[in-house]
Amino acid sequence: MAKIVILTGAGISAESGIRTFRAEDGLWEEHRIEDVATPEGFAADPGLVHHFYNARRAAAAAAEPNAAHRALADLESDGRHAVLVVTQNVDDLHERGGSQNIIHMHGTLNGALCAACDHRWPAPAVMHRTDLCPACRAPATRPDIVWFSEMPYQMDEIWTALRAADLFVSIGTSGNVYPAAGFVQDAVRAGVPTLELNLDPSSGSRWFDEARHGPATEIVPAWVREMLA
Ligand code: APR
Repeated sequence: MAKIVILTGAGISAESGIRTFRAEDGLWEEHRIEDVATPEGFAADPGLVHHFYNARRAAAAAAEPNAAHRALADLESDGRHAVLVVTQNVDDLHERGGSQNIIHMHGTLNGALCAACDHRWPAPAVMHRTDLCPACRAPATRPDIVWFSEMPYQMDEIWTALRAADLFVSIGTSGNVYPAAGFVQDAVRAGVPTLELNLDPSSGSRWFDEARHGPATEIVPAWVREMLA
């Protein structure tokens, strides 16, 4: 059974109506990364950070998985390939699209995390800076999102799967944020074939054996059809 590791980024959810980060109208044009996506930003103004992620959570809840999310679920459920989706996205559109084997390396909007004791619990729709941790009662509730300067989740598991893969596919990511941006080079070093599916060439495009460019809802289902033919 061929083992396929698929890295996804904001581009796969763009056609579901979720804003990407680095487009001209992207989230980082309107917000400073330092203010809303770092531990220092949270310490300085937790209310602002909660406001930002409450809006992201509401947008994700209002969105529906698209044909690209569903195609990856079809590839997995078909059973001929062992599929692992490693997503940088904090929305739950892969889950709702039917994928089961998913790693949220940058965390999830559906999670709450206590900055004081590391306890985790399901996030309410709206989080406030005065929310208490249900375990230690500290008013240190934060979204369970991996911020800049923090270590992404399940990295050992990801690198192990990457090195053992028969194919690495990168979908809808600009290739600007490490360690995910380096997965293609890790795959190349391990002798794993690589494929990029993205609207435009990513920063690491030249590393891929093959790159196909277009909207995810077209090029991902087309690739999955080939895999299942
Ligand atoms: N189909 C396919 N690709 C698309 C589409 C689409 N419809 N729309 C946009 N893209 C591509 C863009 O061309 C771009 O290369 O998706 C990519 C999105 O890039 P970013 O906005 O940089 O998002 P991402 O790569 O996921 O960002 C990585 O940065 O800020 C952090 O933690 C955040 O997880 C995020 C990380």
